[in-house]
Amino acid sequence: MRSDFGITTKGEKASLYTMKNQKGMEIAVSDYGAVLVKVLVPDKEGDLLDVVLGYDEVSGYESDGLYLGATVGRVANRIGGGQFELNGRNYTLTKNDAQNTLHGGTDFYNKRMWQVEEADDSHITLLLHSRDGDQGFPGTVDIRVTYTLTEENEIQIHYHAVPQEDTLLNLTNHSYFNLSGHASGTAMDQEVVICADAYTRADAQSIPTGEIVPVDGTPMDFRKGKAIGAEIEADYEALEFGRGYDHNWVINGAGYRHAASMYSEKTGIGMKVYTDLPGMQFYTGNFITHADGKDGAVYQKRGGVCFESQYFPDAVHKENFEGPVVKAGTVYDTTTAYHFSLVLQRD
Ligand code: BGC
Repeated sequence: MRSDFGITTKGEKASLYTMKNQKGMEIAVSDYGAVLVKVLVPDKEGDLLDVVLGYDEVSGYESDGLYLGATVGRVANRIGGGQFELNGRNYTLTKNDAQNTLHGGTDFYNKRMWQVEEADDSHITLLLHSRDGDQGFPGTVDIRVTYTLTEENEIQIHYHAVPQEDTLLNLTNHSYFNLSGHASGTAMDQEVVICADAYTRADAQSIPTGEIVPVDGTPMDFRKGKAIGAEIEADYEALEFGRGYDHNWVINGAGYRHAASMYSEKTGIGMKVYTDLPGMQFYTGNFITHADGKDGAVYQKRGGVCFESQYFPDAVHKENFEGPVVKAGTVYDTTTAYHFSLVLQRD
């Protein structure tokens, strides 16, 4: 179902597309930025609760600096020094995070109108034509993002692109989840599991050093699950650098697999994250300072957390990190899913 979502400052008409399943779950996506605007999930009382942070209309997304619900590209996360070399040529990007490039650097994908190719009650496919030189990256590429809501209460996000020249691609979704409800305040009491024996160490500017560090015996260990806030203030260099959790975990195994879980005891809502990508940035909303959100909600520091599936940050500069170079004419195809269920007893 399509509804109006406001007019952009450039005069473009934005729409909101709502998908519903037989279980009562509902999601909404806008063609502005291919942003995920709403995720309504039944709680243990049977009431529908919105578990992602967002804005009531397009103007909120236009002025947003937090990437709420955003589709991020061409390269999500950081590229050290705002430049890279590919096939002997040097490419210069915008430095928007100290001396580095974050989430594309400029003219963000989540601040453009995407073309809706298909939309029905269970899925939407959005297309972005990204030209050669877009944000400083080489090669024209048509990027397709499909959101599907299944009857099993799962949101599948599928990315598909075939660049015309060798380029870099690392697309992610930057939704902030709060399983007690988007307006419920801090998410630090909620439990998280991250299926990772290691994370990538980063410097004070969050650029990986190239080292893969075991989580064992550190506050980065989420393998058995714990409240997000349990050790977030621990005296540990990585937490000091990130002002909380804002790191890339090396997800165990390969191929499409379970990467993380989240659970709210208050509402009984559980979520499992699956991805086929090697890494995941777990970001605890450390930099949120007063954002006016949906339905009059005011979002504060750590009021939602992101599970950003990805190639490791700054992979283009690290021999031992996979990706994110995609060769001309080859298919970039990845899927990340968020599966919701009621967890009445913690397993
Ligand atoms: C980054 C954070 C950044 C945030 C922006 C995350 O992916 O890792 O450092 O502040 O995006 O909202």
